[in-house]
Amino acid sequence: MPVKQKSKSFLLSSFLISTAFFSQAHNVSEGYVKPDDPLVVQHLEQWQDLKFGLFMHWGTYSQWGIVESWSLCPEDESWTQRKPEHGASYYDYVKNYENLQTTFNPTRFNPQKWADAAKKAGMKYVVFTTKHHDGFTMFDTKESDYKITSSKTPFSKNPKADVTKEIFSTFRKEGFKIGAYFSKPDWHSENYWWPYFPPKDRNVNYDPKKYPERWDSFKKFTFNQLNEITSSYGKIDILWLDGGWVRPFHSIDPAVEWQRTIKVEQDIDMDKIGTMARKNQPGIIIVDRTVPGKWENYVTPEQAVPEHALSIPWESCITMGDSFSYVPDDNYKSSQKIIETLIKIISGGGNYLMNIAPGPDGDYDAVVYDRLKEISGWMEKNQSAVFATRSIAPYHEENFYYTRSKDGKTVNVFHISEKAEYKAPENLAFTVPENFKPNTVQILGLPSKIQWKHSGNTIEIKMPRDRSALQYATVIQMKK
Ligand code: GLC
Repeated sequence: MPVKQKSKSFLLSSFLISTAFFSQAHNVSEGYVKPDDPLVVQHLEQWQDLKFGLFMHWGTYSQWGIVESWSLCPEDESWTQRKPEHGASYYDYVKNYENLQTTFNPTRFNPQKWADAAKKAGMKYVVFTTKHHDGFTMFDTKESDYKITSSKTPFSKNPKADVTKEIFSTFRKEGFKIGAYFSKPDWHSENYWWPYFPPKDRNVNYDPKKYPERWDSFKKFTFNQLNEITSSYGKIDILWLDGGWVRPFHSIDPAVEWQRTIKVEQDIDMDKIGTMARKNQPGIIIVDRTVPGKWENYVTPEQAVPEHALSIPWESCITMGDSFSYVPDDNYKSSQKIIETLIKIISGGGNYLMNIAPGPDGDYDAVVYDRLKEISGWMEKNQSAVFATRSIAPYHEENFYYTRSKDGKTVNVFHISEKAEYKAPENLAFTVPENFKPNTVQILGLPSKIQWKHSGNTIEIKMPRDRSALQYATVIQMKK
């Protein structure tokens, strides 16, 4: 029997939530089921060492600079709005949107450039949108012609046309773990949005119970595509399944607003999919996100950092700009903000999956490379406090955040300021974790010895005069 774990309350801090719809403001750790496959347990443990991953939303939608697939969804929300110049009626819009396939030609696509920059910045895994809700596959599926390798897509002539293959093999070669994002809903499939009826919202547009054969065809189609991804693209470490409204009806959480829109059974047979995926990829981590149970091996708060440490495996996905997919002149977060976010996440025991959106030309904006370079400078000095660490009480206190080595012999304390520019103070005083008696205390990135005093449960540090090397944060490393 799988062990059911319940953990502490989950509160989303509002500072990071830019778009309310992205948030899943509920207790994400409720109903977590610890996997019983020892290989999955082992992979999750290793995955928790990685801390920093790269998320990429890329598709034909990048050409219009819109919110991924969402403008196809006939819900009237800020993120589903359609620009009039893209079509006078909803149906014109859909036609024009799907025609984006015929102009998608990202000739500057060079995953080696991405992998090099991400690797230097300390990123250790990548999750790539093989298919978003619009149904356009960024891999060479046999199930549909709405794909990057179709002769309708100009990029299909390029030797790197199967971009999923290229991204996965390049990043894998650079030592990254590989994650496939895949949307369970498919707004292009006639077995999800049956053209007989108009689509009403994000959900399937017919009742699968009334038309079981149609739903069965959709299940087969989804199964086959996931079989392709897990059998023809080399070693895959994570299957990241989005579109949580495709779920068994009984699993709906009425406390979550968007889940209340689900009116019909949309059971995709995750047992069958998961078993197939694990046969193709022994021990693969599966994230059937927002569907608590056997197939949600870790939880995925979005655009938010939990206020408290969680005792289950978790990952926050947060955009580097404001948007998951490419928009021209996006508002990229500063390196300082990114590093502060990383510190907050790892002190709570989580991983940070930072999304960077490639443009329609096949490259990132120049500013992205500047940020990644700045982050790599910080990582070079401070990585020993970041990777392969675990959380430790008191997790965080005021501006201090804690991690520990897995053997418990090292405790790292990060001091951040959340001001526009970090200035290391002259003195620092912070609580020492219970029962931890350090023999050495060092500031990472500073060559000089520092003066420190341990009294009661507090350590006081007199910082050296020259603290100019301490950018973004001060990282204190204490060893037993
Ligand atoms: C949100 C968006 C979706 C995106 C996902 C990534 O749920 O709706 O488009 O793929 O975030 O986490």
